[in-house]
Amino acid sequence: MLDYTITTENSAAPETEPQRQQFFIEKCRLYVEDFRIRTGRTPTANIRTFGCQMNERDSEKLRGILAQAGYELTEQEDADLVIYNTCTVRENANLKVYGRLGYLNGLKKKNPLMRIVLCGCMMQEKEVVEKIRKSYPFVDLIFGTHNIWQFAELLCRMHESRSMLVELWESTDQVVEELPAQRTYAFKSGVNIMYGCNNFCTYCIVPYVRGRERSREPKDILREVEALAADGVVEVMLLGQNVNSYGRTLEHPVSFASLLREVEKVEGIQRIRFMTSHPKDLSDELIEVMADSEKICPHLHLPLQSGSSALLHRMNRHYTKESYLALCEKLRARIPELSLTTDIIVGFPGETEEDFQETLDVVRRARYDSAFTFVYSKRTGTPAASYPDQVSEEVVKDRFDRLLALVQETGKEQISRFTGRTMPVLVEHVNTQDPGLVTGRMSNNLIVHFPGDAQLIGTIVPVTLTECKGFYFMGEQTIG
Ligand code: 5AD
Ligand code: SF4
Repeated sequence: MLDYTITTENSAAPETEPQRQQFFIEKCRLYVEDFRIRTGRTPTANIRTFGCQMNERDSEKLRGILAQAGYELTEQEDADLVIYNTCTVRENANLKVYGRLGYLNGLKKKNPLMRIVLCGCMMQEKEVVEKIRKSYPFVDLIFGTHNIWQFAELLCRMHESRSMLVELWESTDQVVEELPAQRTYAFKSGVNIMYGCNNFCTYCIVPYVRGRERSREPKDILREVEALAADGVVEVMLLGQNVNSYGRTLEHPVSFASLLREVEKVEGIQRIRFMTSHPKDLSDELIEVMADSEKICPHLHLPLQSGSSALLHRMNRHYTKESYLALCEKLRARIPELSLTTDIIVGFPGETEEDFQETLDVVRRARYDSAFTFVYSKRTGTPAASYPDQVSEEVVKDRFDRLLALVQETGKEQISRFTGRTMPVLVEHVNTQDPGLVTGRMSNNLIVHFPGDAQLIGTIVPVTLTECKGFYFMGEQTIG
């Protein structure tokens, strides 16, 4: 029976999705069974995720497929199936992957049944795949961002192949619905609302590796959110590279604000977050929906990138220092409780000390709770990679340190406004350092640690913030 089914011709697979992938999940089960018969144990699988929330969500989908196929998911890296879901937004993310591959080769020598899979953004770069073919021939399967939903099929083909299987698509307009996902948290989940990006900021590789912007149909998103709510999820994070342009490319265009209004109606969902907003597309309609909503969290991640209008122009960001600050003021006037966070790049080609001072000025005036600061990283194929006047490492390091110090100082000042207040907190996990504490998140995305136990996980409880520790708080649960 086993031999017969494993050799089932793949041509017997249905043509339509997701039925086709279901067929291959079933077929994967037979490979798992075969492994069990040969070794007397269930094959283990480990996924390591690099990069952003989009990748985290993609990894949950990969885990869902693996779980249905019968793999035992593990945190250990010496698993029988190791998957790296990669990021390429900055070069150091790539370097980390190359660094780990040598180590994985050592593990594979000890366990010949081990299989190594690479997927995600980095694999959408031709030079990367060439390098892996040449220098890391022990990798078994490579696929990209556009065909991730084919994972079950590719896994089967990997088992049937004697050499490295590489399946990459240059682009897609396909969005495959209804594949399984295994969530990291029972009570919260990411939900993709769109894929890709059309903005072509001149430093950014994302539009090249994630392709053109594609929005999911509102009905599919709502069905997913309803199913999550029915499964105990209380918080959803709507995910897209630029959620503010959601819905523009649909046959019947809808705005992001109107999608939010619909998601709000889903019973059981208590908190709605979204990521990432582009300042150029943030509409008044969205501000109104946020201001009126009980469920939409008063937190906005609004990447600044640079405070210099001249640099913003060369970054192709379509806003100026003044229009960005005016937007922050408008938001704060309408949503007084709003927490703002941001991304900032230091050392973009041609950045002068004056440009950098403009960035510091915005940090002082925008009153961020926190900011992710990045050293500019040259990405092959992006326009900025060939701009003259790349800034020297030494100058970048000095600016980066000054920016970080300011961000820490202003962040602490800003978030200490909450000290002494009692806030609803969604408890996420037992504290990793101190098992007597739990760690939770306020609706403004700030973290608090307070005495409690695992029973609180997934519930929203009132917590009084007793001490501000910089980027997080210590607190006490308030009873009654
Ligand atoms: N170099 C440095 N930072 C970058 N980002 C995107 N591309 C680059 C790059 N080439 C940062 C931006 C973006 C965040 C996700 O990563 O700040 O908002
Ligand atoms: Fe990159 Fe700009 Fe698109 Fe963000 S909006 S993914 S920074 S191109």
